[in-house]
Amino acid sequence: MKNIFVFDHPLIQHKITLMRDKNTGTKEFRELMGEVSMLMAYEVTRDLPLKDVQVETPIGVANAKVISGKKLCIVPVLRAGLGMVEGIQNLIPSVKIGHIGLYRDHDTLEPVEYYSKFPEDIHEREVIILEPMIASGGSLAAAVSILKKRGVKHIKIMSILAARSGIEKLAGIFPDVNIYCAHIDEKLNKDCYIDPGLGDAGDRLFGTK
Ligand code: URA
Repeated sequence: MKNIFVFDHPLIQHKITLMRDKNTGTKEFRELMGEVSMLMAYEVTRDLPLKDVQVETPIGVANAKVISGKKLCIVPVLRAGLGMVEGIQNLIPSVKIGHIGLYRDHDTLEPVEYYSKFPEDIHEREVIILEPMIASGGSLAAAVSILKKRGVKHIKIMSILAARSGIEKLAGIFPDVNIYCAHIDEKLNKDCYIDPGLGDAGDRLFGTK
């Protein structure tokens, strides 16, 4: 599918292997998620437009480029998406950050929005949704819909590990949304965890299990 992009960079693959390892502790897991996110952000932002500027060096004047001010916003999906924020902020310190919180309704199993907060001009921004795991794709589909309702036109999804069924479903529902991930696993287990995956990303990140 042409809106799915999988990164095969050796550094990213190596770090994901360490993240998968059940013996990797919270501190290292958090650092690895930050590093993978930073490496991925480098590619996800490749199409940011540049403009020409002149800059005075100690020797002379250089014709140079700066990012042309296209407004970016990252939106982590609570809570595991928070682990991807710092790595991106390290690269783009001025990036604006929105948040989306979703829970799964016990009866309908549908994702329900319990929290969202965005910059006022979110509809003018290019938005990158952060969610390290794409399992069924249900909560990400809800997150995309929430942003589209706010008038956001340019949406990307940045994830780390995806289940094939979930990422392909999502890519089919939103052909205008580019989805970036670092690896695709083939299976989901009966509890909707990616198999073999890396476990519960939120629990591993925050040490809650
Ligand atoms: N969320 C997780 O944290 N892990 C999975 O495997 C699926 C969803």
